[in-house]
Amino acid sequence: MIRVLFVCLGNICRSPMAEAILRHKLAAAGLADRVAVDSAGTGGWHVGEPPHKGTQNVLRKNGIDFSGIVARKLDARDFSRFDYIIAMDSRNLRDIRSFNANPTSARIALMLDFLPECDDKDVPDPWYSGNFDLVYDLLDRATDNLLAEIREVAERI
Ligand code: 4NP
Repeated sequence: MIRVLFVCLGNICRSPMAEAILRHKLAAAGLADRVAVDSAGTGGWHVGEPPHKGTQNVLRKNGIDFSGIVARKLDARDFSRFDYIIAMDSRNLRDIRSFNANPTSARIALMLDFLPECDDKDVPDPWYSGNFDLVYDLLDRATDNLLAEIREVAERI
């Protein structure tokens, strides 16, 4: 099993969107039982809440199921549970790294590391910008490349 955790600040806009999109693509690729996907926030303000209405709307518009997704906070145990911990922006990446004092085998990366053509490596936060369509477009393209990498790893194990 390959385990992927997406992380943003509040876990209601960007990382649950990435979670739902990747789940959808894994199911379509027949890899749903080989790859587990989750998301978490570095902040705990929205723990227990479903995704933001803007995230819900853009997912619905694109035919992507998000049922069962509920916000939670990043946990120290995540660093031993996940193979990939993927941050939505550089602030999240910094917070993730400072949160974990122990050695981890998880690959900690930025979401837009999977989109080499993007110079700005931060997925803009729609909590402030309101631009959920732009976030969807970035995450849709980045998860295509992430899926290609995961598929290669899955074929080797
Ligand atoms: P997210 O967006 O990190 O993409 O989920 C945010 C959601 C909530 C807050 C900030 C960003 N907040 O300050 O409550």
